[in-house]
Amino acid sequence: MGKLWGGRFSGELDAHMKRFNDSITFDVRLWQADIRGSIAYAQALARAGVITRAECRRLVKGLRQVYAEFAEDRFAIQPTDEDIHTAVERRLKELVGEVAGKLHTGRSRNDQVATDTRLFCLDAIRDMRRALWDVQAALLAQARDHVHTLMPGYTHLQRAQPITFGHWCLSYFWQLARDDERLQDCARRTSVLPLGSGALAGTPFAISRRALARALGFKQVSQNSLDAVSDRDFIAELLFVAALIGVHLSRLAEDLIVYSTAEFGFVQFDDAYATGSSLMPQKKNPDAMELTRGKSARLIGNLTRLLVVLKGLPMAYNKDLQEDKEPLFDTVDTVLLTLSVVAGAVRTLQVNAARMRAALDPAMLATDVAEHLVRCGVPFREAHHLSGKAVALAEARGVRIDQLSLADWLSISPHFDERVMEVFRFERSVSSRDAEGGTSPRALQAQLRSAERWLRRARRSVGS
Ligand code: ARG
Repeated sequence: MGKLWGGRFSGELDAHMKRFNDSITFDVRLWQADIRGSIAYAQALARAGVITRAECRRLVKGLRQVYAEFAEDRFAIQPTDEDIHTAVERRLKELVGEVAGKLHTGRSRNDQVATDTRLFCLDAIRDMRRALWDVQAALLAQARDHVHTLMPGYTHLQRAQPITFGHWCLSYFWQLARDDERLQDCARRTSVLPLGSGALAGTPFAISRRALARALGFKQVSQNSLDAVSDRDFIAELLFVAALIGVHLSRLAEDLIVYSTAEFGFVQFDDAYATGSSLMPQKKNPDAMELTRGKSARLIGNLTRLLVVLKGLPMAYNKDLQEDKEPLFDTVDTVLLTLSVVAGAVRTLQVNAARMRAALDPAMLATDVAEHLVRCGVPFREAHHLSGKAVALAEARGVRIDQLSLADWLSISPHFDERVMEVFRFERSVSSRDAEGGTSPRALQAQLRSAERWLRRARRSVGS
């Protein structure tokens, strides 16, 4: 059989040009979406009276056979198969004969590929959301176990104020929660049917695009045929959300890499998520986290790749758009694998609460000293200054700030009295940060409940 578009051509495609042009090596991944779309399209053609019921039955039966061949891994791709669309149609013709030629009535590969890709993305979004929730569930479980586990909180990677490890865990939970909401939002704009737009100008056949949308599970029908065949915004959005997930996971990974060093010793990775060195027997390397950090580069790169493809494209379809699929597939595979590894690494993470606590330094309570003075009526700016003096005095003496004597404190300011000693209890500091969203165990319990509610609701929304 000749090419789909062979009519006006007499010469053969140059061999390199053929390899350049073919996309079957990667878009074969769209087989399921492509066949689903074709079955629905055959039925729409029959409803519109363009083909007979009997023809429709033969087409659908043939398409189901092609589907089975793919599902059972016995579909044989032929050298003439340019892309997944031509491959399916070529096989269909072998199975059902000339009637196969009626399937493409009023349809173009332009509206077909846009439809297939949207179906693929909708499935990918569902899978990504599930994978995100698994990471969130792992963070939530760790947070529940560490409501009272104190550790230094950092800014500029310098010890800043005491926090709880549970609070740290949930800080990543909420980042991922926003990503999940972005995915949901992205799904709304992806769930728009392009089929029925033809090559660019629409179809002259009376197919019901609404019915077609319902059959394929799309929430809406595209409003403009030019836009429908050339729009890849939905992919760009998906790649952006995936890139942002990558950035969030990369930051989480970086924290855990630092926390797992001998110098910190806050956490240890399970053997299932670390590797050894071929040279140095003592080493346990946090490869899972390093790769997580590294993979984010691919996710960001794939987004950039697509945006550059889209930039400057004239209306409507251009073959450049075929370059949308490899970044899409790579991103979906990368983000799903990364999420599942991160979920496991977090779930099995061993936390060394004693090491975390030992890293607390009374100087991290200097802010609490200032807050203590504020409660005694001193304006915060002055209190901050006086507390700074105490830090400097301790440093000059070579002692810890909590080792200053009452006389020392009084030498700094008459506002101080023996109650300042009370300030130097880390638990007190943490539990004082009790406003909603703070690190106190009580506030954290409330935060945990709201995170649990969030996760329950998200999971219920897709009925998993
Ligand atoms: N393989 C093509 C793609 O991925 C399908 C659409 C081809 N359309 C065309 N007018 N040549 O974009």
